[in-house]
Amino acid sequence: MSTKSSSSNSTDLILFLVFIISGLAVLTPIVATDHIVGTKHGWNPGQNYTLWVNNHTFYVGDLISFRYQKNQCNVFEVNQTGYDNCTLDSAVGNWSSGKDFIPLNQAKRYYFICGNGKCYNGTKVSVLVHLLPSPPKVVVSAHNSSLDAAVLVVPQQGFRALAVSLAMLCFGLGWA
Ligand SMILES: *[C@@H]1O[C@H](CO)[C@@H](O)[C@H](O)[C@H]1NC(C)=O
Ligand SMILES: *[C@@H]1O[C@H](CO)[C@@H](O)[C@H](O)[C@H]1NC(C)=O
Ligand SMILES: *[C@@H]1O[C@H](CO)[C@@H](O)[C@H](O)[C@H]1NC(C)=O
Ligand SMILES: *[C@@H]1O[C@H](CO)[C@@H](O)[C@H](O)[C@H]1NC(C)=O
Ligand SMILES: *[C@@H]1O[C@H](CO)[C@@H](O)[C@H](O)[C@H]1NC(C)=O
Ligand SMILES: *[C@@H]1O[C@H](CO)[C@@H](O)[C@H](O)[C@H]1NC(C)=O
Repeated sequence: MSTKSSSSNSTDLILFLVFIISGLAVLTPIVATDHIVGTKHGWNPGQNYTLWVNNHTFYVGDLISFRYQKNQCNVFEVNQTGYDNCTLDSAVGNWSSGKDFIPLNQAKRYYFICGNGKCYNGTKVSVLVHLLPSPPKVVVSAHNSSLDAAVLVVPQQGFRALAVSLAMLCFGLGWA
């Protein structure tokens, strides 16, 4: 009887800790960054995105987002040849909502261009995405419980993913 109640208390404690840690993780600056291309100028012709890129650091798990008038532009992810020559045959993805959030999930160089000719006017951007600096791990260990040796290893990456999902959910619901 007492064993049962103590183990359920431990489980409660662990759930409580998970809850608290998740809360903290969402509140701390671990939250993924949303890089709005061109900041207030958006994704439009006549911009030079080199300065914008140089003023940002991109990490795996961040988002890049494009804001534009739907009938003016769109977004294609291409390879370097497509970026240099404004061609679409290497496209691996395309977006056209006018407010597109694209997750940067790999440590590599990404190339995005406007696919309707505006690329020739400089509406293209190339960003290098870095691995996260080695993430500190949050470790909660609970001894003497029904979840004996329950060691909860919560990598930062998980929280970034959670934060990204939350962010996308919020944006999806039109809160931002
Ligand atoms: C954009 O600006 C950078 C740095 O100022 C410059 O080197 C580059 O030539 C410019 N690109 C265009 C297309 O004007
Ligand atoms: C660079 O970023 C800082 C901080 O986000 C901002 O205040 C500044 O205006 C930016 N500069 C340019 C050239 O975008
Ligand atoms: C694409 O641009 C590259 C330079 O980046 C050039 O060498 C190549 O000939 C171009 N290809 C086409 C099909 O225009
Ligand atoms: C980009 O993709 C095109 C078409 O798939 C291919 O011909 C070209 O070699 C690729 N360029 C690079 C730099 O990978
Ligand atoms: C855009 O992406 C869709 C799939 O998401 C694909 O079916 C379509 O062919 C793409 N358009 C172009 C022009 O590549
Ligand atoms: C677990 O609790 C018992 C008493 O309930 C205690 O004797 C034992 O040392 C504890 N073990 C650990 C690893 O804390």
